[in-house]
Amino acid sequence: MNPLQGKLVRLRAFEPEDDPIVLGWLNDPEVQQYHGTRYPRGLVELKRRNENPQGIRFSSANFAVEALDDGKLVGEVWIGCEHPEMRVGDLGITIGDKSRWDKGYGTDTMRTVCRFGFEMMNLHRIELHVFSENLRARRAYQKAGFREEGVLRDAVFKFGHYMDDVVMGLLEGELILE
Ligand SMILES: CC(C)(COP(=O)(O)OP(=O)(O)OC[C@H]1O[C@@H](n2cnc3c(N)ncnc32)[C@H](O)[C@@H]1OP(=O)(O)O)[C@@H](O)C(=O)NCCC(=O)NCCS
Repeated sequence: MNPLQGKLVRLRAFEPEDDPIVLGWLNDPEVQQYHGTRYPRGLVELKRRNENPQGIRFSSANFAVEALDDGKLVGEVWIGCEHPEMRVGDLGITIGDKSRWDKGYGTDTMRTVCRFGFEMMNLHRIELHVFSENLRARRAYQKAGFREEGVLRDAVFKFGHYMDDVVMGLLEGELILE
């Protein structure tokens, strides 16, 4: 089984030609609605973000998400583990191509990157934070096996109001691949 390939997507490294597409997602209010971001971002900042002389690695692995059906870039997913002793990975995902929402790409990306995290990075636990109002994301994470473990009340502020921040976690052996 290809460790970087799921049923709908494959994970790959970013290439310079991906930049304009990613920049579009970074400045799309609908895509960014449930991210902590709020300021406009340009190519200079994107290139700085992508500056990574060590490449994709255990502490910070940022993958481009490509659709298997037409090879198009549809999103990005990040997984990283800062303290190898803990074997706990943090995760963040964006399916930036809105035309692909609600078609299983997010769930398949989660399944693929978590399988990679457990089988290739030897993680024991993967965790993430999600805005409570992001029901689509919470559902996709649950379908991959993530459980809601706690709520940080009023921990995020955006669009003039506070929202809860939901902590979700997935342990080795809990990943749901179907
Ligand atoms: C969140 C995101 C990754 C999900 O990816 P996706 O490809 O749309 O997700 P999927 O199609 O795999 O699953 C979405 C599920 O949520 C459901 N859903 C959609 N809107 C919903 C809502 N308002 N309430 C409840 N469920 C909802 C869908 O029906 C689907 O469930 P189903 O397959 O049981 O029918 C993607 O939409 C995205 O990147 N959004 C913008 C950035 C973002 O929010 N990132 C996450 C930050 S934590």
